[in-house]
Amino acid sequence: MRVGVVGLGAMGAGIAQLAVEAGLETVGREVELERAEAARGTIAHFLARKVEQGRLEQQARDDAVGRLGITTDLADLADCDVVIEAAFEDLDVKRELFRELEQVVRADAILATNTSALSVTEIASALERPERAVGMHFFNPAPLMPLVEIVRAERTADDVFETAFALGSTLGKTPIRCSDTPGFVVNRVLIPLLNDCVRVLDETGVTPEDLDAGMKHGAGWPMGPCALLDLVGADVHVHASEALYAKLREPRMAPPPRLVRMLAAGKLGRKTGEGFYRYD
Ligand code: 3HC
Repeated sequence: MRVGVVGLGAMGAGIAQLAVEAGLETVGREVELERAEAARGTIAHFLARKVEQGRLEQQARDDAVGRLGITTDLADLADCDVVIEAAFEDLDVKRELFRELEQVVRADAILATNTSALSVTEIASALERPERAVGMHFFNPAPLMPLVEIVRAERTADDVFETAFALGSTLGKTPIRCSDTPGFVVNRVLIPLLNDCVRVLDETGVTPEDLDAGMKHGAGWPMGPCALLDLVGADVHVHASEALYAKLREPRMAPPPRLVRMLAAGKLGRKTGEGFYRYD
């Protein structure tokens, strides 16, 4: 199987890493070659760390890196069996990409979207053949988080859904079957929960450090909510919250003002060096 990944940001690069580690020939597409090269560098780095930690053979690492092609041209995805779109979370951007991809790929190719909170059905409806579209929603950081949500849109064909489900397993993930409801399963739960956590900061006057320690040591979370929001990015989280609020109209879904202010100030978290915490 040959896999295409469109968009090599944190999620796309992580998905491409999974694909090459699983032995699949993979083509990653970015709008600028420098960004694609940076993503390949990140993947090569994480695979080298695995060798240093004794979790991967040097030859297997070199072979995996060798399986990753990069390009700026969507036409280079022509031979892919499955293309996973991991571009910016904007409905129009994703619909346009799907439209362009459909002109390029084979008639039997599957188009998957990694959207976290948009409707897969709305993205798929840009296609002449929406049956070929499916959601494959990975979690950040994709190489480390075991889950992938396989999302059946209104018109997803059964064989397309099952192929995406099987691909999730091939990539080493635990796939679950989801309907195309807002936020699917995990974000439907996690986004309002993280919004609650941010509101608690303001209501209780607790510090981010103490809130994080509370949820780690009192609720068993692997990382605290503020550290998690810094990992996900205020931009990604606020967009996802807005998308859920637009569909569900539940006040807990709306992004808390504190996060909206952080977004406006460019305090996005790890990616800009400052969020709830500072990063060097
Ligand atoms: N890509 C690839 N490899 C990575 C990586 C990445 N982004 N980050 C770390 N690694 C590798 C590194 O090589 C690292 O080893 P090194 O530090 O010695 O080089 C190795 O993985 C282990 O990393 P950590 O020691 O940091 O791993 P931890 O055991 O501390 O676990 C964690 C890290 C898995 C992130 C854990 O803290 C966790 O589960 N956190 C919760 C994350 C979570 O909830 N994510 C979901 C976010 S919501 C979402 O994604 C939905 C979306 O729609 C918004």
